[in-house]
Amino acid sequence: MSGFDDMDVDTIWMDGEFVDWDDAQIHVLTHGLHYGSGVFEGVRCYDTEQGPAIFRWDEHLDRFYDSAKPYDMDIEFSREELTDATHELIERQNLQSCYIRPIAFYGYNTLGVSPQDCPTRVAIACWPWGTYLGEDALENGVDVMVSSWRKHASSQIPTNAKTTGLYVNSMLAGEEARRNGYVEAIVLNKEGNVAEGPGENLFLVRDDAIYTPGLAESILDGITRQTVIELAEEAGYEVHEESAISRGELYTADELFFTGSAAEVTPIKTVDDVTIGAGERGPITEELQSRFFEVVERRTDDHDEWFTYI
Ligand SMILES: Cc1ncc(COP(=O)(O)O)c(C=O)c1O
Repeated sequence: MSGFDDMDVDTIWMDGEFVDWDDAQIHVLTHGLHYGSGVFEGVRCYDTEQGPAIFRWDEHLDRFYDSAKPYDMDIEFSREELTDATHELIERQNLQSCYIRPIAFYGYNTLGVSPQDCPTRVAIACWPWGTYLGEDALENGVDVMVSSWRKHASSQIPTNAKTTGLYVNSMLAGEEARRNGYVEAIVLNKEGNVAEGPGENLFLVRDDAIYTPGLAESILDGITRQTVIELAEEAGYEVHEESAISRGELYTADELFFTGSAAEVTPIKTVDDVTIGAGERGPITEELQSRFFEVVERRTDDHDEWFTYI
């Protein structure tokens, strides 16, 4: 039994071949399992009138290859091969909208910390995935807490690489929040400034201007973050995308929201039980969120360059 059982998916692409879902197995002594030496992506494909449309695939591929660089990991498949594999997975399984998970990791050979003699394995899976933070999160917002766990600093580990091992920090922060009755966490960086959520970037609205922690704040350079910055600027907002945001500024913000491929644009209604703004989705969050969905669901011709149609 698994959470994928009723999802009507049956195929995974692994190292150049399509294999049955249940046969996509690895050895228990895989390097990546022991040391977190993998890199991955999370991409959404939206159901549109023109058919399934993958959102910002090129940027996700860029980040995928970039993430592998600090780990000296050679992803031996080309962009075309990964793109073709993904298209075929979506077609074969008749998926209209889905989440796409490419992953590359050091595989099975030796189990010293050095991965030098381990092969790089690459896989892609796709499956249907609804709202990340719960059904009413997009409309009504979520209650979050500031985690007692700090984010690893970019001087300790490359935080701009989307590395599997980093996500134990996300897991600790997110589970601490859920154990305490919150939906999600906000994680501060080593300096005590606001970094991001466990799987989301964070935006703050104050006096009609928009702020988001800068890339030097130990955050992932989120593709939804880039998208929202661009859409907000197009809408005429002043966006401060290299901000340092203190914890206290969270509580006094007019609006706060998360962005991410999984979380999309999710309003935050309370932080540590302090009501943010009016305690509901704020007007600028709502405007940017509806613009985001208008674009990703292709109810406009704008930004067609962000989409790869199946
Ligand atoms: C730690 C972290 N920050 C931010 C994000 C948002 O990034 P993106 O919009 O590229 O999904 C994610 C999700 O991938 C994440 O895991």
